[in-house]
Amino acid sequence: MEQYAIKGGNPLVGEVEIGGAKNAALAILAAAIMTDETVRVENVPDVRDTNVLLQAMESIGVIVDRIDRHTVRMNAANIHSLVVEDDFIKKIRASYYFLGALLGKYRKAEVVLPGGCDIGCRAIDQHIKGFKALGAEVNIAHGLISAEAERLSGSHIYFDVVTVGGTINVMMAAALAEGQTIIENAAKEPHVVDVANFLNSMGANIKGAGTDVIRVKGVPKLHKTEYAIIPDQIEAGTFMFAAAATKGDVTVKNVIPKHLESISAKLLEMGCEVEESDDAVRVVAAKRLTHTQVKTLPYPGFPTDMQPQIAVTLGLSEGTSIVRESIFENRFKYVDELTRMGANIQVEGNTAIIDGVKKYTGASITAPDLRAGAALVMAGLAAEGITIIDEIRYIERGYEDFPQKLQSLGAQIEKVSTEKELQKFRLKVG
Ligand code: EPU
Repeated sequence: MEQYAIKGGNPLVGEVEIGGAKNAALAILAAAIMTDETVRVENVPDVRDTNVLLQAMESIGVIVDRIDRHTVRMNAANIHSLVVEDDFIKKIRASYYFLGALLGKYRKAEVVLPGGCDIGCRAIDQHIKGFKALGAEVNIAHGLISAEAERLSGSHIYFDVVTVGGTINVMMAAALAEGQTIIENAAKEPHVVDVANFLNSMGANIKGAGTDVIRVKGVPKLHKTEYAIIPDQIEAGTFMFAAAATKGDVTVKNVIPKHLESISAKLLEMGCEVEESDDAVRVVAAKRLTHTQVKTLPYPGFPTDMQPQIAVTLGLSEGTSIVRESIFENRFKYVDELTRMGANIQVEGNTAIIDGVKKYTGASITAPDLRAGAALVMAGLAAEGITIIDEIRYIERGYEDFPQKLQSLGAQIEKVSTEKELQKFRLKVG
């Protein structure tokens, strides 16, 4: 079994390049099938979820050409199936984007019900509500969700909850519907804007992305484009908090500092120095950090995808901190693992009460999901002694070259797959 072996105690110091945004890439790659012309996308992160998505696209007849590690050229002129049920795709949440993309282009789609990290109930009722409002008939049977419409007509949709996936999915279908669609209570995340920009570069007419109200004027068809995905806000945030937790000094490069404001604000409150420049942010944690309160919220609030990373850092900060999770109800599963490393955290419902301890100690632990897995790596880097992390496949869903990037900042971390390799690591780090 593959594991990360970590010897903690080194502050992370140096510079790290951030890759393309995973959650933007998943939607943009799926949306690339909405034209018969060739689409080229740059800055695609080479992570498991994007690779699974590209594989599923090939399984329905999309020609996928990898020009280099981060550049993909796709042509979807010869799609031969509107049923996406490749064995791997059911494991990723973003499979739902094929519904919006195929429904828009072909008025018909059938997709395996989405999986993804087990972080709570992950309903898709709002996606369905949106497709129905556009005139589609939507059914769920035998583990598949199908949507079909003779005509897709623009509509006025008010989302009951702010949903990133729902907003993007309905925006995609509406881009090729007849007439105008208005999406109210839309998600405002940077990747929603990125997908809208991508669709507009293909000839769509979408206005207001990044605000609560998105207006989509349907066009008859979309055309070729070349597009580069925005930097990953969460990968950047993870390295920023890793700098804080290890009392380090890290400059995250190739970022959009505006997207990181809620993250920078919390680091400042906790006592870090944060310096922003055009496309980089430097985080310095010279002394022990202090407690704070945080509640996860849709953008521009503090992201739920950063909740485990801030909690791990607050676990080492002075005083009592409160972390409230308001997006997903099951996102504290890492707390048991962190407790094994010496953290003092009580979870009551959607709230974690964290009494900061002076240090964590290395332990054998398991990554429960993607972001919590990354946060446990951070805990291992800050801890005294050796930490072994299982189930790193979750982490590889969303972080490209995570051990290598951390090594370049001075971390002692290695991916090991046998007992012998683990022994070798133990001998090496002493
Ligand atoms: N929700 C509904 N009905 C719906 C859709 C969502 O009730 O039809 C609820 C969800 O249960 C949740 C909340 O609305 O409580 C927000 O869900 P949202 O739809 O915004 O999330 P998502 O599309 O399932 C994406 C990311 C997640 C990220 C969330 C929130 C992808 C593939 N996933 O999920 O990313 O946490 O937005 O920003 O884009 C990750 O990268 O680790 C990850 C989990």
